Parts: sequence; C-alpha cells; structure tokens
Amino acid sequence: MAVTINTLREFKQKGEAFAALTAYDSTFSQVVSEAGVHVILIGDSLGMVLQGHDSTLPVTMDQMVYHVSCVAKGNRGSLIMADMPFMTYGTVDAALDNAAELMRAGAHMVKLEGTDWMKDTIAALSERGVPVCAHLGLTPQFVNKFGGYKVQGRDEKAAEMMIEHACELEAAGADVILLECVPAPLAARISQAVKAPVIGIGAGSDTDGQVLVLHDMLGITTGRKPRFVKNFLAETNSVQEAIEAYVKAVGERTFPAEEHTFKA
Ligand code: KIV
Ligand code: NA
Repeated sequence: MAVTINTLREFKQKGEAFAALTAYDSTFSQVVSEAGVHVILIGDSLGMVLQGHDSTLPVTMDQMVYHVSCVAKGNRGSLIMADMPFMTYGTVDAALDNAAELMRAGAHMVKLEGTDWMKDTIAALSERGVPVCAHLGLTPQFVNKFGGYKVQGRDEKAAEMMIEHACELEAAGADVILLECVPAPLAARISQAVKAPVIGIGAGSDTDGQVLVLHDMLGITTGRKPRFVKNFLAETNSVQEAIEAYVKAVGERTFPAEEHTFKA
C-alpha cells in the first residue's frame, strides 16, 4: 500500500519510527522504495551531491522538476517529497506556481526552509491541496546567514523560539516538520509539542522519523563527514541490504546512536 501523510501520522500515533532517504534518479528511487523506505526526498542537496556545488543555492526549479519526474517513475509506493529551491517561495504567488510544477512532476509534498515568515505561504499551499514539510534548524539555504553549517537551537532562547516556530507552522497548515542539526533534547521537545510527524537529521532518536542523504549512508560522502552520518554499506553486502538495514535500524531506534547525536 502506498505511503500517504496518514501513514506517517499513524506511525507517530503508535510511537513507531519511519524512514526517509534522498533519491535523485529512477533506479535509486525504485531500490529505495522497494527496500521499504517510507518517504523519498528529492533534496536540493543534489546541488552538492550531483552537481558539485559547495551549497544548495544554485539549484533551479527546472532541475528539481527533472529529478522529481525521474524519481516518480521509479517509485513503488513511497511518499515523494520535493525540496523547493532557494528563493522559489519568497512570495506566496511564487510558491504556488513553483509548488504546482513540482506536484505536476510527481511530488506528493513539498519542503520549504524557514521560520514564522512562511506561515502565509504554508497556509496558501495547504489550502490549495499541497502538503508542506517545514524544515527548521540548520536550513542549508541559510548558510550565508548562519556563517556556515552550524548546529542550531543550542541556547534556551533559540530553542524556545524553534519550538514556537514549529507550532506556528503546524497551525498554518504544515503536515510534517523536519529538524536538521539540533540538539536531541530540543528535537524531542518539538516532536512532543506538535501533532505533525517530525523527521530528524542530526536531531537524535526521539523524532518520529529519520532522514539521511543516500550517498552519505552508502559511505560515498566526499569531503567532511558530518557527525550524524552512518555508513550502512560497511556492514552489509549490497546497496539493497544497506538500505534495508537503515530502515530496520530506524524502526528499532538503534539509529541514530549517541555518537550520531548532538547533545546540546
Ligand atoms: O536536501 C536534502 O537532502 C535535505 C535533507 C538533508 C533533509 O534537505
Ligand atoms: Na534540502
């Protein structure tokens, strides 16, 4: 049976963890989907992983549409989430037009990076039939504002603000929240504060789901390897087995372990 937002809500209600992974092409989409991954993310990380840029900022709508359509063809029942690239949702009108393109290409949900300024945009999308994942914490499109890729929400004031933003964005219509590189205790608080399923990356094991970049979990990260990454291929004999091992570890909450987690 195909995964829908209802499936993710059921996981949260039962206290069971679901697995998400990036894919950018049809073959990996099928492999990831058949391995039991619940959510496939066409991340704008493709700007770094596929295109070799040092940030996600250069990724364009046309490129995202192309990759979403490739992934949609290989998909075998996972929920397809597509990133909206940098500055393609700066206004409500732009967000509506661009989200429509991603949905037409085969996405089931779009992901936007930001905080409370996205309320109107999320409401407009949601009201028109576009489910939204709100990405908070280390939002890579903000790398130039952050002055680097740094853990977010480390002090109590920033933590409380992030909780508030998550609640506000849920109230505006966000169906899923994604937290990147935040201390595990904060991610746990946010996961409890909202009804929407919360997906974490570098956010500890108490979120409702986990996501990783495919290349990272296959051990082909170039450059610096982030703390939250685990190479699942190292313990298995094939790409398929590695992805199955990831889904299993997420379900059993053995991944992420302490060593992959930011404590504060
Ligand atoms: O672009 C991406 O792959 C992402 C995940 C790291 C969450 O946004
Ligand atoms: Na992204």
